[in-house]
Amino acid sequence: MQMRIGIIGLGYVGLTLAITAAEHGVDVYGVEISEHIKSCLRENRAHFFEPGLDRLIARQNGRNFHCVESFPQDKGFDAFVITVGTPLLAGGG
Ligand SMILES: NC(=O)c1ccc[n+]([C@@H]2O[C@H](COP(=O)([O-])OP(=O)(O)OC[C@H]3O[C@@H](n4cnc5c(N)ncnc54)[C@H](O)[C@@H]3O)[C@@H](O)[C@H]2O)c1
Repeated sequence: MQMRIGIIGLGYVGLTLAITAAEHGVDVYGVEISEHIKSCLRENRAHFFEPGLDRLIARQNGRNFHCVESFPQDKGFDAFVITVGTPLLAGGG
C-alpha cells in the first residue's frame, strides 16, 4: 500500500522533502499559509531556486504531491512532518 504523509509548511525544507518523497512514490499532502508559495506551486515552480526542483514539481503536482488547504479527513496518514519556521527571537526574528 502506498505510504501517505502530510507536511505542514512548504518552505525550503518542507517543499524539497515533499517533492523528493513524492518522487519516491509517497503520496504527499502539503499545507502552506503563504499565498505567494501556493501561487508559485500552481505554476509548477518553487518560490526559490534549487537545481532540478521545478522539473520535479511539474512531474509530481497532482500526481503524488498535492498542495491543499487542509488535510483530507477521509484518508489515513502514516506520518505528519512539521516544517514551519522556528524564530530565534521573541519578536519573530
Ligand atoms: N533551511 C535549512 O537549511 C534548515 C536547516 C536545518 C533546520 N531547519 C529548520 O527547518 C524548519 C523549516 O525551515 P525552512 O528553511 O524550510 O523555513 P521556511 O521559512 O522556508 O519554511 C517554513 C514555511 O512554513 C510556513 N508556515 C508557517 N506557519 C504555517 C502554518 N501554520 N501552516 C502551514 N504553513 C506554515 C511558512 O509560510 C513557510 O513557507 C525550521 O524549523 C528551521 O529551523 C532548516
